[in-house]
Amino acid sequence: MQSTLPAKTHVAIIMDGNGRWASARGLPRCDGHRAGVCAIRRVVEAAPDLGIGTLTLFAFSRDNWKRPQAEISELLRLLQLYLCEETRRLLEAGVRLTVIGRRDRLPDELAEHIGLCETATAHGTQLNLRIAFDYSARDAIVSAANRIAGAKVVSIDGFARLLSDEPAAQDVDLVIRTSGEQRLSDFLLWESAYAELYFTERLWPDFGRADLAEALAAFAKRTRRFGGLTDRPAA
Ligand code: FPP
Repeated sequence: MQSTLPAKTHVAIIMDGNGRWASARGLPRCDGHRAGVCAIRRVVEAAPDLGIGTLTLFAFSRDNWKRPQAEISELLRLLQLYLCEETRRLLEAGVRLTVIGRRDRLPDELAEHIGLCETATAHGTQLNLRIAFDYSARDAIVSAANRIAGAKVVSIDGFARLLSDEPAAQDVDLVIRTSGEQRLSDFLLWESAYAELYFTERLWPDFGRADLAEALAAFAKRTRRFGGLTDRPAA
């Protein structure tokens, strides 16, 4: 598997279906989110073995603020808990964690924990794990555009560097969306310009190593020409 993937493959996952997973069991929606955290642990553990260099997980979109307050509070709590419980394990596994998206609307304590975890794991080299939280691709693009307002010339690479504060952002190779939905929902729109898309019926809380391996196997069979005639990006 590893040899058939480009070095440092960037996989981005839209983790969908937590609510339906819970409803199917007669459980409250938040139980689905809690089960979703276990799925996050499984894919983070599997990712480096499967040849993934960067893994971006969509945990909370700008539009998720429209959800009931109790659900929002639980999602904020789950991120905080994940950071508290997982930082040591990420550090040991050589995983660098960063959180992308707006931070100014998060509770101070959560923003502080994010910073601590980012600093603690900053030297991880096995996997670049990015959690998108209060994230909107359109917001990120508009914010980057505002930062360069007045500049005469901006290259595509230069603009891409402005999209995210952390330096390791690279184009997405593969977008996976679970639960049978087939849309991008304002996730990494710029970075996914040439991404391959993979949709699975599997609900996120049921997703695991085998599902990730299956998605990567399907990706490895795709022919990527980036608009040209070879499988290399245009210069
Ligand atoms: C979409 O399913 C999922 C989300 C909006 C939240 C994803 C969050 C997690 C997996 C857990 C958060 C954990 C951390 C560490 C931040 P949905 O609720 O829209 O499901 P549905 O479409 O079946 O209703």
